[in-house]
Parts: sequence; structure tokens; C-alpha cells
Amino acid sequence: MASTEAGQATRETARSGVNGPTRARIGAKTLRSDRWWLAPLATFTVFSAFVAYATFRAFWGHDYFAEPYLSPFYSPCLGDCVEGASDFGQPFAGFPLSAALIILIFPLGFRLTCYYYRKAYYRSFWLSPPACAVAEPRARYTGETRLPLILQNVHRYFFYAALVISVINSYDAIVAFHSPGGFGFGLGNVILVVNVILLWIYTLSCHSCRHVTGGRLKHFSKHPVRYRIWTFISKLNTRHMQFAWITLGTLIITDCYIMLVASGTISDLRFVG
Ligand code: FES
Repeated sequence: MASTEAGQATRETARSGVNGPTRARIGAKTLRSDRWWLAPLATFTVFSAFVAYATFRAFWGHDYFAEPYLSPFYSPCLGDCVEGASDFGQPFAGFPLSAALIILIFPLGFRLTCYYYRKAYYRSFWLSPPACAVAEPRARYTGETRLPLILQNVHRYFFYAALVISVINSYDAIVAFHSPGGFGFGLGNVILVVNVILLWIYTLSCHSCRHVTGGRLKHFSKHPVRYRIWTFISKLNTRHMQFAWITLGTLIITDCYIMLVASGTISDLRFVG
């Protein structure tokens, strides 16, 4: 009897969420006394800095190629790109804006719909909610059940596109070992290779990849190869958040290094060739 009354009280003091009662009706914004705001604030700051830098670089349209290095923001370079930057041709020659904008939808869509980044920007930008056990400012919560957020479900298809982009980035890193004088490598090669390896790890640690490799199976015992792959991907997946952040950093470092070399601000540090 007592537990029935307690349950009723809980229901009465709850507000409706997307699927029913979700939050106690308490006066305080939160009962948490720790510095819960630190994580969303740090996410907001670092993420904003990356978006500002990437937007500037994507629209700028200059200093993205320093033979033999091509910035990942411009790869593949399909517009009116500088000589030597378009190994896959220029099917969008005449595109009036920066060539980076032609392919931007794929890496951008992949990251925007990423399960980890959703959590990050829902919390730090939309405060929905800003942290566990902290009320969000809006009275109503509709989740990802309607437009536009229902479109987050296309993540799997961006994952397939990201695989193609990763292959192209790998190609760029390999051909960059061929400088005008033959085989050679410099600091730019090291940066490109590290970046592409980490991009692969981030891409393969994706939740969609985990489902592609091991989902929809009734018996792992009948699919030992897929089980091994799924086990490997699952291990990477536990660090997906870290790889998401690390690759934001390596993308900026790679693009920035190539921009500085291309603009003549610094010279590429050559080890061989
Ligand atoms: S890239 Fe993050 S979940 Fe797919």
C-alpha cells in the first residue's frame, strides 16, 4: 500500500517527456553540488573554436596544397583547384565557391550525426539537458522523433561516405611520399600519416560500424569472422569519444601545417628527398 502511494506521488510530481514521465518537479534547477557545468563549457569552447577555424578554412579557398601535401579539408579537390591538387579530376570545375564546400557535407554530416557529438552539442549548445540530473530550460522534450532531428538517423549512410573519404585521405598520405624529386618525406608526411591513421580509428570506432559488423546476427558462433571483427570494433568503440576529440585536433594541425607551408610562412622540414 505504501509503495503504491509512493509510486503515485512520483507520477504526480513528474513532467511529461517524449515517452512519458521523466523528471521530478523540483524547484531547484539541480541538486548537484559539483562543478557539472565544467564539461559542457569546455565542450562549447573547444567545439566553437574548431567550427570557427574550419569555417574560415573551408570558405577561404587558398593555401590548401603544398606539393606534395593536400589538406584533408580539400580532399578530394573536385573544383577549380590549384595544379597538382586534383588527382581525381575536376568534375565541378566552375563551382563558384571554395572547392572545400563541394565535399564538406560528407565529413560534416558524419560528425554532426555522430552519436557522441550529438551528446556533446545537445548538452553544451542546446542545454538539453546540460548535464545528468540538471533540468533543461525547455518545458517540452521531443527527442529525435520528428523533423529536423529525426534526420540524425541517416548517420549510417554518412558512415559509408566517411569510409570512402578515409580511403581518399589514405591515398593522399601515400602519394605525398612522392615529391617532385622522387621518393622523399618530411614532417608533413608524418603529420599526414598520423592524421589518417587516427581518422581511420575514429571512423571504425563508429557505433554504426559496430552494428554493420556484428548487428542482426542471431548466433555469433556461426559467424566467427564477424564476431572477431565486431569484438575488435567494440574495443575501439569504447574510446570513440576520445578519438572524436583527438581527430578534431589532428585535422587542425594537418591543415594548419599545410597552410603555413603553402603560404610560404614556413618551409617543410624534409628528412629525405
Ligand atoms: S562517428 Fe560517432 S557514432 Fe558514428
